[in-house]
Amino acid sequence: MNPTVLGADMFQAMSTYVKDYQDAFKAAAKVVLPSVDQIDHVVLTGMGGSGIGATLVEALLRDSSPRPIVVVKDYHLPKFVNKRSLVIATSYSGETEETLYGVALAKERGAQIAAIASGGALLDFANAKKLPHAPVPRNRQPRAALPLLFGSLAGMVSTIGLGNLALAGEDETTLSNRHLSLQPRLAGAGDDALRFAEQIRHSRPVIVGEAHLWPVAQRWKAQFNENSKIFARAEPIPEMNHNDLVAWAHGPREKGDLLIQLRRPREPNEVRARFEFLATTAKERGVPILTSDTQCRTPLGQCLDQLMVGDYASVYTAVLRNVDPTPVEIIGSLKKRLQEQGLAKEARKRLGLPSPS
Ligand code: F6R
Repeated sequence: MNPTVLGADMFQAMSTYVKDYQDAFKAAAKVVLPSVDQIDHVVLTGMGGSGIGATLVEALLRDSSPRPIVVVKDYHLPKFVNKRSLVIATSYSGETEETLYGVALAKERGAQIAAIASGGALLDFANAKKLPHAPVPRNRQPRAALPLLFGSLAGMVSTIGLGNLALAGEDETTLSNRHLSLQPRLAGAGDDALRFAEQIRHSRPVIVGEAHLWPVAQRWKAQFNENSKIFARAEPIPEMNHNDLVAWAHGPREKGDLLIQLRRPREPNEVRARFEFLATTAKERGVPILTSDTQCRTPLGQCLDQLMVGDYASVYTAVLRNVDPTPVEIIGSLKKRLQEQGLAKEARKRLGLPSPS
């Protein structure tokens, strides 16, 4: 395979994966933000490639954050949002209407607001109102900016005192070895991502994750949709054991069935038992199973490691299918249609910003 042409920009964007996270983390950790005693709740908003960082942060801090963290992927904010709430909005383009509308509502409720964007109305608003914000470099697909967006958000929540999402030194070598192993080679690469892609290209994969690897499963799903242009599904353990599992047990196997399990070291016994039971059930029906493992020790390291594998696998899958992973024209077409029928204009007006020319 020759990935040097098709997918070259995606491989380029992924070439500094962990460094992007760390650089963005450090930059955002310097942003002046309210401290934990000035806020009662934190709301993280963002859509698609800009929203998954929020899902990751919430999952990583759920057990330790002194304040509730709520993720919103929609136009509206929960009723509790008030002056004692901090709303952190992430939009790579800075133009996504759901996110802008949520910021307008936050402003009207007197909430404290912070922003992460590479430009657009969100950055304009943050600059005009001198709001705390972390600008990220432009010229990527939003989803290819995940390490920057996730790192920025992680830096902000760590500064506020909601937890510590600095990458531990102990995981750095593991991550850098993994990153090396994922690089495109001209022939015969036997790494996990390419090996996975060879099976995924003919399938409709179902990715199963638990705890902090559940958002990673959601990211794999989204990357297979947007980069590889295939249907994919993500399911969480333990919830899927109460519904989806039934369908795995019900024959006959369908074309394209593929189970992908995201695993980690030192899984609790009950989690291991659930994965093993699911694998046995799927195997009995002849469903192929891929397991993605990680050697990282910390939950954050495990997320970054498994995110890299999924991101590379999705680009390799695109290349093997001979499709360009980068364009997602249909999302652009929808956004264009919404310029007339959606809430972007309304959001801009309520934010005190001019309509786009
Ligand atoms: C495109 C992508 C999309 C966008 C989403 C929101 O690469 O990943 O899922 O992230 O349409 O747009 P932004 O990120 O600009 O707020």
